[in-house]
Amino acid sequence: MKRRIGILTSGGDCPGLNATIRGVAKACYEKFGEDVEIVGIHDGYFGLINGLCKEMNQSDFSGILTTGGTIFGTKRTPFKMMQVIEDDKVDKVKAMKATYKKQKLDCLLTLGGNGTHKTANLLSSEGLNVIGLPKTIDNDIWGTSVTFGFHTAVDTATDVIDRLHSTANSHGRILVAEIMGNKAGWLTLYSGIAGGADMIVIPEIPYDIEKLAAACERRDSKGFSIMAVAEGAFDKEEAKMKKKERAKLRAEQGITTATARIAKQIEQMTGRETRVCIPGHMLRGGSPSAYDRVLATKFGVHAAELVAKEKYGYAVAMIKEVVSENKLEDVAGKTKFVPEDDQMVKYAKALGVSFGDK
Ligand code: F6P
Repeated sequence: MKRRIGILTSGGDCPGLNATIRGVAKACYEKFGEDVEIVGIHDGYFGLINGLCKEMNQSDFSGILTTGGTIFGTKRTPFKMMQVIEDDKVDKVKAMKATYKKQKLDCLLTLGGNGTHKTANLLSSEGLNVIGLPKTIDNDIWGTSVTFGFHTAVDTATDVIDRLHSTANSHGRILVAEIMGNKAGWLTLYSGIAGGADMIVIPEIPYDIEKLAAACERRDSKGFSIMAVAEGAFDKEEAKMKKKERAKLRAEQGITTATARIAKQIEQMTGRETRVCIPGHMLRGGSPSAYDRVLATKFGVHAAELVAKEKYGYAVAMIKEVVSENKLEDVAGKTKFVPEDDQMVKYAKALGVSFGDK
């Protein structure tokens, strides 16, 4: 029985996408031999809508285990960052189904984060055979303890924080590292702990600037402090506002980011020079770590096994340290936030790290 498998990568890229694609492909060629054809769909769902497809050869999947980015290119999901007009949505779904049919696909593998899984579930509910694979440096996909790309980003962010220590120390400054993560603070939490940050600020725990300033002052005898702050952090007052109101208030105050706001306030309150460091997309770049290569390979092989079993409508996941899967409909539309009583938060607090809440 011939199998024709479409693969796409969607949303923000991360290290480990190519390693996962390779894992899927190698396992499929191994399992199905001549009976498999793989179609690469370029630029995520945009490519599925617009028919940007390419027949792949086995050799196309060699030499990509260690490379960052994605060989298929990516774009944000087609229903994000815009007011979804129902007709437009219908047209896009129609176009995606048409490409799937035209390409004679037996199934579609979508590598992505929350938005990608939501669209994967939509396509699955429309009758396509879809399997999702969990990618994101944010580690915020519901139902999986880990996503590929996360640990590489933790390593990179930790390196940034490590490097800030010596210069903060030399100058007696407070250094604020802005770590990616708009909604979830996993990356900030893990890299903050790994990098020995003195304060960790995440969106799930709205901060009180007085508490953060007091924590800096408590460290005054040391002469410097390091704060790891998630890009999506907000204070207790802002926590009462809607996202738009928050953005409006910050615009009125001439403040663009949470870190800029924190740094300005902390400098005023402590009298200590405060600087912001934004590694930004560096956190998404580069070669996947050994951990992520292994994880990506496991996830890729598992997806190939699901294809062999024709088990569609699922999202590959790590559940209790075993590679498994959840129903796409259970994952779609949810976000895995850091719980306030998370063990890592407790451990960090036990070390005296301030989250600015108490
Ligand atoms: O979803 C991953 C992520 O890197 C987030 O941490 C960040 O907020 C966002 O993507 C940035 O997106 P973009 O690359 O589209 O600016």
